[in-house]
Amino acid sequence: MRIVLVGPPGAGKGTQAAFLAKNLSIPHISTGDLFRANISRQTELGKLAKSYMDAGNLVPDEVTIAMAKDRMEQPDAVNGFLLDGFPRNVSQAEALDELLESEGMQLDAVLDLEVPEDEVVKRIAGRRVCRNESAHVFHVTYKPPAKEGVCDVCGGELYQRDDDSEETVRKRLEVYHTQTEPIIDYYKAQGLVVTIPALGKVEDVTARAMEALKRVVDDK
Ligand code: AP5
Repeated sequence: MRIVLVGPPGAGKGTQAAFLAKNLSIPHISTGDLFRANISRQTELGKLAKSYMDAGNLVPDEVTIAMAKDRMEQPDAVNGFLLDGFPRNVSQAEALDELLESEGMQLDAVLDLEVPEDEVVKRIAGRRVCRNESAHVFHVTYKPPAKEGVCDVCGGELYQRDDDSEETVRKRLEVYHTQTEPIIDYYKAQGLVVTIPALGKVEDVTARAMEALKRVVDDK
């Protein structure tokens, strides 16, 4: 399956993507994680991305699309992928459509994670991520690690993302409403959007998403 996951910052896209990708045996492709990996390796792309990310803005389309395309063309993504954080504006959505069309492929579904704004603020405020691998995500209240400050998965140090400060989160939410939300209408016009209520336990949200994807497959 080829799936796009959309939702405001802190909605739980990364958390859900890890379970959904495993259940569906497809790679989880997160542009945010790809940028953070470049930042920790101190690449030129990482240096460029960091300046935009720290301000809560989108990294320019040209570099983002090239990076996402390169990742989607890796052998493990031949039979499908779960995109998390890409596309993030209508230009990126159009670029993705062009790419898929040129390969004779199409998206199967766009899962829209719906979470009230006061809840995303709580989720982001308590989030802690691993320095070794930003896909290892915890929460001080909702998902505390066994040992404070230490990643359960790999033993790495847990820290608060630089872009999780109150001011940057406010900017990221504004960017989400103005630039990313329009892709929901873009994909609604293609009949691809499935809205998933994303409040409640992580496993309940995963179950809702899996049921919705099953309906998508059954309807084909
Ligand atoms: P990115 O890393 O994609 O950030 P985001 O979209 O803002 O999403 P988050 O990672 O903040 O949240 P999430 O929805 O994954 O939530 P999570 O699962 O961690 O992008 C960062 C930046 O990179 C962007 O601002 C931009 O600058 C740049 N960028 C990335 N892609 C780009 C693109 N395509 N174009 C241009 N620029 C781009 O969950 C949050 C917390 O809640 C965690 O602590 C988790 O444990 C907890 N939680 C999750 N689910 C639940 C639940 N059900 N109940 C209770 N707690 C929960």
